[in-house]
Amino acid sequence: MDTNKKILVTSALPYANGPIHIGHLVEYIQTDIWVRFNKSQKKSVAYICADDAHGTPIMLKAKELGITPEKLIEKVQKEHKKDFASFYVNFDHYSSTHTDVNEELCKSVFLKLKENGFIEKRTISQFYDEKEKIFLPDRYIKGTCPKCKSEDQYGDSCENCGTTYSPVELIDPVSILSKSKPITKETEHYFFKLKSFREYLINWTQRNNLQPSIKNKLDEWLKDDLNDWDITRDNPYFGFKIPDEQDKFFYVWMDAPIGYIAAFKEFSKKNNSFEGIWDNEEVGEIYHFIGKDIAYFHALFWPSILEGSGLRTPNGVFCHGFLTVNGKKMSKSRGTFIKATDYLKYLDPEFLRYYFASKLNDGIEDIDLNFEDFSQKINSDLVGKLINLASRCSSFIEKKSNFLLSDELEDQKKFHSFLEDVKEIENFYQKRKYSNAITKIMAMTDKANQYINKKKPWASSSDDEIQKVATQGLNYFRTIVIILSPVMPNLLEQTEKIFNEEKLFWDSCFTPKLGSKIEKFVPLKERIKKEEIESLNNSLLDEVEKKDKIERKDMVEEIDYESFADIDLRVGEIIRAENVEGADKLLKLEVDLGELGVKEVFAGIKKYYKTSDLLGLKTLVVSNLKSKKMKFGISSGMVLAADSDGDIIIISPDSKIRNGSKVK
Ligand code: MSP
Ligand code: ZN
Repeated sequence: MDTNKKILVTSALPYANGPIHIGHLVEYIQTDIWVRFNKSQKKSVAYICADDAHGTPIMLKAKELGITPEKLIEKVQKEHKKDFASFYVNFDHYSSTHTDVNEELCKSVFLKLKENGFIEKRTISQFYDEKEKIFLPDRYIKGTCPKCKSEDQYGDSCENCGTTYSPVELIDPVSILSKSKPITKETEHYFFKLKSFREYLINWTQRNNLQPSIKNKLDEWLKDDLNDWDITRDNPYFGFKIPDEQDKFFYVWMDAPIGYIAAFKEFSKKNNSFEGIWDNEEVGEIYHFIGKDIAYFHALFWPSILEGSGLRTPNGVFCHGFLTVNGKKMSKSRGTFIKATDYLKYLDPEFLRYYFASKLNDGIEDIDLNFEDFSQKINSDLVGKLINLASRCSSFIEKKSNFLLSDELEDQKKFHSFLEDVKEIENFYQKRKYSNAITKIMAMTDKANQYINKKKPWASSSDDEIQKVATQGLNYFRTIVIILSPVMPNLLEQTEKIFNEEKLFWDSCFTPKLGSKIEKFVPLKERIKKEEIESLNNSLLDEVEKKDKIERKDMVEEIDYESFADIDLRVGEIIRAENVEGADKLLKLEVDLGELGVKEVFAGIKKYYKTSDLLGLKTLVVSNLKSKKMKFGISSGMVLAADSDGDIIIISPDSKIRNGSKVK
C-alpha cells in the first residue's frame, strides 16, 4: 500500500429495523481496529457508514409499531450511533440511506445504467397477498419444500435440505402476513443485466486482492450462468421511487451500496481532501468490510453496477465470518442474542474488542464467544499480565522517586531488542491478522514481566536502581498500550493521562518516556467477576421468559365488541349436582337462572369437584348457547370455569348477586 494515498473504508450498513447486537460488532470492531491502526500510522483514512433504512421489513416494523418508517429509522439511527460510540467505533461520518443525496445519486446511477444499455424492463409473475394488498418478497411466503417436502419453509430456500428455489415452486404457499394463500399477479420490473458483466467480473476477481475462500466462491458463481438482477419493488414499499414510474421503487439492495457513496459525499462537505475518490483510482483506495453473507452483493452486483455506470470499483472487499455464542448461532430463545446495550450493562466494551481481536484473522471462519474463555483471556492476560505490570511499576515510582521517571532506562539494549517485534505486529494489523498481533503482544507482555521478576526491584536497596527498573517496566507498558491502541483506544487515553502526554501515535512507542513526572496510578481495568457474566446471562433469560409470556398472550385472537356482546352471560346458582352413569368426566348440574328458569347443563368437572361441594355455589353461565344433544341428555348452557395450571376451577361470583343477573 502506498502510504501517501488516501484510504476510504466502509463497514456494511446495518438495517434500521433493529438494535446493534454483538454479532454486528464483530464487523464494526474489526473495521475500526484497522482504521485506527492506519490512523495511528498517520495515514489519511476516512471511515464511513450509514443506516440501511429501506425495504419491506422496515416498512412492516413501523406499521407494527404504529409509527411512520421515517420516525422509526430516525429513532433507530440515534440508537445505533450511541451503541457504536459506546464500543469506541469511531466513524468519520455516519449517515442514512434515506437522504436526498442518496436519492439523487441512485437515480443518476440508474439512468446512467439505462443509457448504457444495462437495464431491461420485463413482465414477471409474483406472489401477491390480496388481503394485505402487497407483492410478497420471498421471505414473506412459507410453504412445503418442493424437493424434500419439509413444511414451513421460506420462499427462497429450504432450511432442511438447503435447496434454493423460486417461491412459485413452493407447495401450498401461504403469505406470512395474512396467512392467506397468495395469488400470482403480473407486474413490470426493471432488471439489471448482470449477465453482461461476466467477463468483466472474471477479470475483476483475478486482479483484486480477495480472500482465497471468497475468490473460490466467486469462481463457482461465475462458472454458472449469472442471473440478471431484479432491482424493482412494487408499491407499497419504503424506498426511492424509480424515475418516470408511479408505483415502483428501487429494491433496497440497489440504493444501499450507493449509500456508501452518498455518505461519502456528505463527509466531503466536512473534509474535501478525498474528493474525486469514486471517479478516480489515483485519488486513493477504497475498502469494504462485510460479513460473508453479503459477499454476492458486494463482489458481483456492486462492481458491476459501478463499472456499468462509469465509476471506479473498490480495491478490496474484506469478509469476516459469523459470531456464534457458546458454539451456537445466536438465538433469542436460548438467551444468547446479546444486544450491544445488554452487554454494556455488565461488561467493559474494550473487553469485547480485545476478545474479538484475539479471535479475528483474515479468514471467513466463524468466531465463537465462549464466556469462560472470554473471562480467562481478560483476567489472566489483559488484567493479570498487562495492567498488573503497570500497577507494580508505578507504585515504585510513586514511593521511591516521588512520581518521577528516571532520565535513562536501566537496560537500553534490552529495551531495543524488545521493540524488534513491533514491525511484525504492524504487518499483522495491516493484513487483518489481529489474533496473531494479540499473541505477539502478549508474548511481549510476558517478556516485560520476566524483566521485572528478574530485576526484583522490591528486593533492591538502591532507590536509583529501583527508579530505573520501574521506569523501564513502565515504558514496556507504554509501548504495549500504544501497539494495542487500535484495539483498546480508551486504555491508550488513560495511559496518556498517567504519563502526562498528548495524543500518542504508533511511532511514539519507539521513544521511551523519561525524566518526567507521572500521575497517580488508578486501576485501569478490573477483573471480570463471575457474577457479572451470570447477571448478563440471567437478564437475557429473563427477557426470553417475558417474551414468551407476551407471545402466549398475543396468541389469543382479538374479537370485536359485537361478537362479545352476543354472549348472554348470567349469574346462576347450582341447585342440583349429580354423577352421570357411564360418564367418567361429566357431572349433570341444574342451575337456577332467576327469570330465565332452571337449566340443565353437563360439565366436564367430575375430576375436580365432589357433587356436594357444588350445591349452592353461584357461577357464571353462558345462557344463550345452542342446546346440544349429548349421549346422556341435552345440555342447554355452559358453566364457566378457568384452567388454572391444570386445575379446573369454577368461576364463582359474590353470593349476594341475584340469580339471573346479566353480566355486563
Ligand atoms: N443492510 C445490509 C448491508 C447493506 S451494505 C450496503 C445488512 N445489514 S445487517 O444489519 O444485517 O448486517 C450488517 C453487517 O453485520 C453485515 O456485514 C453482516 O454480515 C454483519 N453481521 C450481522 N450479524 C452477524 C453475526 N452474527 N456475526 C458477524 N457478523 C454479522 O446486511
Ligand atoms: Zn427441502
